[in-house]
Amino acid sequence: MVGRHCYSYFFFLISLLLGTLASPTLSYCRHDQRDALLKFRDEFPILRHNPDANDTSLSSWNKSSDCCSWVEVKCDDKSGEVISLELPSISLNSTLKPNSALFKLQRLSKLSLYNSSLYGEIPSSFRNLSRLEVLDLSHNALVGQIPESLGNLSHLTYLDLSNNRLVGQVPASVGKLSSLEWVVLSDNHLVGNILASLGNLTQLYYLNLGHNKFSGNIPVSFVNLTKLAEVHLNNNYFESTLPVDMSGFQGLDYFDVRENSFSGSFPTSLFTVPNLMKVFLGENQFTGTGPIEFRNISLLPSSIVLYLDHNKFDGPVPRTIYKFLDIDFSYNSFSSFEKSPSKVLDESPQITQLDLSSNSFQGPLPQWICNLRSLEFLDLSNNRFSGSIPQCLRDLTVSLEELLMSNNNLSGTLPDIFVNAPNFKVLDVSHNRLEGKLPKSLINCSLLQMVNVRSNKLKDEYPFWLGSLQSLNVLILRSNQFYGQLYHSHASIGFQNLRVIDISHNSFTGSLPSFYFSSWHNMVTSVQQAYDDETLGSPRFGIDYHNSMEMVHKGVDTEFERIRRDFRAIDFSRNAFFGNIPESIGLLKELRVLNLSGNQFTNNIPQSLANLKNLEALDVSRNKLSGQIPRDLGSLSFLSVMDFSHNNLQGPIPLGTQFQRQKCSSFMDNPRLYGLNEICGETHVSNPIQQESDDLSEPKEQVVNWIAAAIAYGPGVFCGMVIGHIFFPHGHEWFMEKFH
Ligand SMILES: *[C@@H]1O[C@H](CO)[C@@H](O)[C@H](O)[C@H]1NC(C)=O
Ligand SMILES: *[C@@H]1O[C@H](CO)[C@@H](O)[C@H](O)[C@H]1NC(C)=O
Ligand SMILES: *[C@@H]1O[C@H](CO)[C@@H](O)[C@H](O)[C@H]1NC(C)=O
Ligand SMILES: *[C@@H]1O[C@H](CO)[C@@H](O)[C@H](O)[C@H]1NC(C)=O
Ligand SMILES: *[C@@H]1O[C@H](CO)[C@@H](O)[C@H](O)[C@H]1NC(C)=O
Ligand SMILES: *[C@@H]1O[C@H](CO)[C@@H](O)[C@H](O)[C@H]1NC(C)=O
Ligand SMILES: *[C@@H]1O[C@H](CO)[C@@H](O)[C@H](O)[C@H]1NC(C)=O
Ligand SMILES: *[C@@H]1O[C@H](CO)[C@@H](O)[C@H](O)[C@H]1NC(C)=O
Ligand SMILES: *[C@@H]1O[C@H](CO)[C@@H](O)[C@H](O)[C@H]1NC(C)=O
Ligand SMILES: *[C@@H]1O[C@H](CO)[C@@H](O)[C@H](O)[C@H]1NC(C)=O
Ligand SMILES: *[C@@H]1O[C@H](CO)[C@@H](O)[C@H](O)[C@H]1NC(C)=O
Ligand SMILES: *[C@@H]1O[C@H](CO)[C@@H](O)[C@H](O)[C@H]1NC(C)=O
Repeated sequence: MVGRHCYSYFFFLISLLLGTLASPTLSYCRHDQRDALLKFRDEFPILRHNPDANDTSLSSWNKSSDCCSWVEVKCDDKSGEVISLELPSISLNSTLKPNSALFKLQRLSKLSLYNSSLYGEIPSSFRNLSRLEVLDLSHNALVGQIPESLGNLSHLTYLDLSNNRLVGQVPASVGKLSSLEWVVLSDNHLVGNILASLGNLTQLYYLNLGHNKFSGNIPVSFVNLTKLAEVHLNNNYFESTLPVDMSGFQGLDYFDVRENSFSGSFPTSLFTVPNLMKVFLGENQFTGTGPIEFRNISLLPSSIVLYLDHNKFDGPVPRTIYKFLDIDFSYNSFSSFEKSPSKVLDESPQITQLDLSSNSFQGPLPQWICNLRSLEFLDLSNNRFSGSIPQCLRDLTVSLEELLMSNNNLSGTLPDIFVNAPNFKVLDVSHNRLEGKLPKSLINCSLLQMVNVRSNKLKDEYPFWLGSLQSLNVLILRSNQFYGQLYHSHASIGFQNLRVIDISHNSFTGSLPSFYFSSWHNMVTSVQQAYDDETLGSPRFGIDYHNSMEMVHKGVDTEFERIRRDFRAIDFSRNAFFGNIPESIGLLKELRVLNLSGNQFTNNIPQSLANLKNLEALDVSRNKLSGQIPRDLGSLSFLSVMDFSHNNLQGPIPLGTQFQRQKCSSFMDNPRLYGLNEICGETHVSNPIQQESDDLSEPKEQVVNWIAAAIAYGPGVFCGMVIGHIFFPHGHEWFMEKFH
C-alpha cells in the first residue's frame, strides 16, 4: 500500500531531480568516474562472483559503454561527473570500506544504498561526499555510531539511516546541517538527547526518531521549526512535558509521541494547529481533565484523529469529540460525558472509530452513540455501563464492523439490531448480565467472524442458523444457559470455517453422531483463509496509513501478541452430552485443544484421536468413559496437557514421555487403570490414584480459560492476535508463540 509517507518521498525526490537534472543533455562519463564506479562494484564479492546473477542489474556496467548510461547512475551533463547513484535492494552483502572507491565520486549529490544488505560501520569517509543532498542507507545492518563527519555534509536535505543497528548518540554536528528537511533515524538503538541539537534545523519538514532509546525533552527552540509537518518520537524514552505553546507548529499534520514518558497536562495548544490530522499521545503519563479543554478551542480542526489512550486523564469526555474522526480514549479514568451531548445531533458526526474501553464510565449507555452513523468500530469494554443495550444502535449497524461491550454490567436482552449490517464482523458482549436469546438478525451478517457472548444469562437453543455463515471463525457461548441438542438430523451441521468453539458451562445435551465433526473443514486443513490476512491488516486505527513497520496503535507490536494463526480449539466441557465421543474428531488434524470434560460420554476413547498430531491439550476427565487409553496417544509429541481422571478407564497407561510427564491426578479415579508407578511414585502399587482424591481440587479461579485468553484482548484483530502466557490447571504453563 502506498502511504502518505511514500507520496511525500516521491514528490520530494521528483522535485530534487527536476532541480538537478533540469536540462536533458547527453553527457559522457569521465574515465576517473567510470573507474571509480567499476572499482566500487568490484568491492562486493557478491557482484564480482556473479556478474550475470539475476539479482543484480549491474551487469550493464562495462567499459565499452558510457558510464553515464549505466543503470542507476546519473551524471552532471556538463562535467560528466557522477551525481546520483541509487542501488536500492541490490544485495551487496558486505561492508562499506573506509577507502571505498565510492568516496572518489565527490560530486555525488544523491546516494541510495537502501536495503542493500550492508553491515559494519558507516565510514567517516562520507565527509568526502561533501555535495551530498540525499543520503539513504536505511534498511541495512549497519552498526556502530553515526560518524561525526556526517556533520560536514552541509548540503544534506534528506537523511535516512532508519532500520539499522546504530548505537550511541547522534553527533551534535548533525544539528549544523541547516538544509535538512527530512530526517529519519527510526528503528535503531540510538540514545541521548538528540532534540537539543535540532533546534536550528528550521527547514525540517519530516522528523522520524521512532523506536530508539532517545531521551530528554522537547526543547523550546523547537518553536522555530515552523515547517514541521510530521513528527514521530514514538517508542523512546522522551520525558518531561510538551511545550506549553505549540501553536507555532502551523504546518503540523502528524504528531506521534506514543510510548514515551511525557507527563504533565494536556497540550491544549497543539489542537489549535489548523492542519493537524493525527495525534498520538497514547501510553504516556499525561494527567488531568485535559481533554475537556477541547470545548474551549473554538477552531478545533475537523477530521482529526486523536489517540489519548493509556494515560491518566479523568473527568468528563468533552462534547466536542464529535469533531474527531477516530477516537481512542481507552485506558484512562474518564467517568462521564460532558453535559448536553445532544449537540451532536446538530452536527453530522463523522466518527468512524470510537474506543472508550477500560475507563470508569458507569450508568446507561449514552443515547447519542446512536447518532454516529459513520461508526465502524465501537469499543465500550471494561467499564461499568449498566442498563440495556439501546435499540437505536440499529441505526449505526449499516457501517458498523465491530461492536465490543464486554465486561460491563449490561442487562436486558441483546436487541435484534443486525437486520441491515452488511459489514458487521465482530460481536463481543461477554461478561455482562444479558438475558434472552441470541439475536436472529445476525444471520444477515454475511461477513460475521466472531460471536462472543460468554458469561451472560442467555437462554437459547444452539444457534444452528449461524452454521451457514461462511466467515464465522469463533463462536463462544461459554457460561450461559444454552440448552438442547447440538445435532438434529434435519438441520445441517454447518460451521465449516470454525476455528474456535467454546460452548462449555451450559446445559447442552444429547448424543453426537460419529460423523459430527467431519464438516468442520477449517480444523481439518491448515489452508490459510484469505480473510485471515485481511483481518490482520484491518484498518482499525489507521493501520493502512503507514507501512507494516509502523503499525499504528494496538497493532501487532504493542499490547497484542499474536495467537498462532493455526490455533484451533474445541471446548464442550461441563454440559450433559452423552453417547460416544464421535469418531470423526480424528479428522480435525489441526486441532490444538480438545476439552470434553464434565459430560457423560461413554464407551471407548476413539482410537482416531491419535491422528491429531498437533494436539497440545486433551481433557476427557469426568465422563463415563471405559476401555483403554488408546496406546497411540503416546506418540502425539505436542500433547503436553492431558486429563483422563474420573472415568472408568482400565488397562495400562500408554508409554511415552508425554504420559510420564503428567501429574498423577490426571489419571485418578479410574480404579482399573494401572502402570502408574512412574507417574505417581513407587508407593502407589495398586489402585494408586483413588486414594489421592484430596489432591483433587476444582480448577482455581485464577486459572485462565485458554480460549478466553486467546481472544480476550484483541477481538478487533482476533484472527491473528493474542496471548502470552496461558495457565493451565495443575500448574501447567503454556507459552504460546510470540510473533514479530
Ligand atoms: C536466475 O533466475 C533463475 C530463475 O528465476 C534461477 O533458476 C537461477 O538460479 C537464478 N540464477 C542466479 C545466479 O541467481
Ligand atoms: C556492455 O553493456 C551494454 C549495455 O549497457 C551492452 O549492450 C553490451 O553488450 C555490454 N558489453 C559487454 C562486453 O558486456
Ligand atoms: C529488500 O530487498 C529484498 C530483495 O533483495 C526484498 O525481498 C525485500 O522486500 C526488500 N525489503 C524492503 C524493506 O524493501
Ligand atoms: C554474505 O557473505 C557472507 C560472508 O561474508 C556469506 O557467508 C554469506 O553466504 C553471504 N550471503 C549471501 C546471500 O551471499
Ligand atoms: C577524501 O578526499 C581527500 C582529499 O580530497 C582524499 O585525499 C582522500 O583520498 C579521499 N578519501 C577517499 C576515501 O577517497
Ligand atoms: C568537518 O567538520 C569539522 C567540524 O565539525 C571541521 O573541523 C572540519 O574541517 C570539517 N571537514 C571538512 C572536510 O569540511
Ligand atoms: C544554533 O545556531 C546558533 C548560531 O549559529 C548557535 O549559537 C546555537 O548553538 C545553535 N543551536 C543549536 C541547538 O545547535
Ligand atoms: C528562533 O529563531 C530566532 C531567529 O533565528 C532566534 O532569535 C530565537 O532565539 C530562536 N528561538 C529559540 C527558542 O531558539
Ligand atoms: C475553558 O472554559 C471554562 C468554562 O467553560 C473556563 O472556566 C476556563 O477558564 C476555560 N479555559 C481556558 C484555557 O480558556
Ligand atoms: C449493575 O447494575 C445494577 C442495576 O442494573 C446495579 O444495581 C448494580 O449495582 C450494578 N453493579 C455494578 C457492579 O455496578
Ligand atoms: C434479513 O434481511 C432481510 C432483508 O433485509 C429481512 O427481510 C429479514 O427479516 C432479515 N432476517 C432477520 C432474521 O432479521
Ligand atoms: C476443561 O474444562 C474444564 C471445565 O470447564 C476445566 O476445569 C478444565 O481445566 C479444562 N481443561 C483444560 C485442559 O483446559
